[in-house]
Amino acid sequence: MLEFKDHTNRDNIIQMQGIGQSYDGGQNWIIKDMDFLIENKPDQGQFVVILGMSGCGKSTLLRYIAGLQQPTEGKVFIHGKEVDKDMRASMVFQQYSSLPWMTVLDNVALALRYKGVGKKERNDRAREMLELVGLTGHEDKYAQYPTLSGGQLQRVAIARSLLANPEILLMDEPFGALDIKTRLKMQDLLSNIWRKFNSTIIFVTHDISEAVYLAEDIYIMKYAPSRFVEHIKIDLPFERSRLVKRDPKYTQLVHHVEDVMVRVSSET
Ligand SMILES: Nc1ncnc2c1ncn2[C@@H]1O[C@H](COP(=O)(O)OP(=O)(O)O)[C@@H](O)[C@H]1O
Ligand SMILES: [Mg+2]
Repeated sequence: MLEFKDHTNRDNIIQMQGIGQSYDGGQNWIIKDMDFLIENKPDQGQFVVILGMSGCGKSTLLRYIAGLQQPTEGKVFIHGKEVDKDMRASMVFQQYSSLPWMTVLDNVALALRYKGVGKKERNDRAREMLELVGLTGHEDKYAQYPTLSGGQLQRVAIARSLLANPEILLMDEPFGALDIKTRLKMQDLLSNIWRKFNSTIIFVTHDISEAVYLAEDIYIMKYAPSRFVEHIKIDLPFERSRLVKRDPKYTQLVHHVEDVMVRVSSET
């Protein structure tokens, strides 16, 4: 059985204060006066989806949280501590990152090697995760294109991240390269795993129906300069399944989010 750590019962998970991002010494601001707060919910992780136009700074924001970039202005805290390079959150980028000289199994098992888990256990658990993402039979292939397709490589990266079970998982358009059938399957997988995880997922997507299906909270960014302007609580049953998409409430939420997106983007 897969085991999942409980990451609950902490202070604010993520807090950003007065964030500004400029690349030309403050003449132009891509992000300005941006605040963001993800509070801790007792006994439950958070599933937060970020929506915003292309180029508005969503990936930049994830890089701040991951400790890969510092904002020009303002501060980023995780659990009340300012982010530094040692606090790295695991991140799945839209450009999936696997080690091409290693097999699929070793790529996924690597998540546990860093934690000092023995070889047999880490291979067993990697196989279990590979089965969940539909990659059984590919374990011994090298994790490289075109031995594996783009979508398969993306699933290798996702399997590794899920097995690492980080407290905060940053997913930047993770399902972008997947066909619709795999994408729906991965949505359900992620949704189910998240419920066992109790970890916090910050998920960037352009797909509004995906956002509503997965999220507990959706945050929408305005553009030029960017900051968060809307928070929409997704008041759907905690347990999500395909049936939720038949719920009129789901459809209403999708329409509502779409309306807000259109309004926010026409304001700029
Ligand atoms: N090194 C850089 N120099 C200048 N502009 C940059 C640099 N890095 C990112 N940007 C700009 O920052 C903006 C936000 O980028 P990004 O976070 O990737 O947006 P998103 O993920 O929302 O599409 C973009 O307009 C991009 O061109
Ligand atoms: Mg991006």
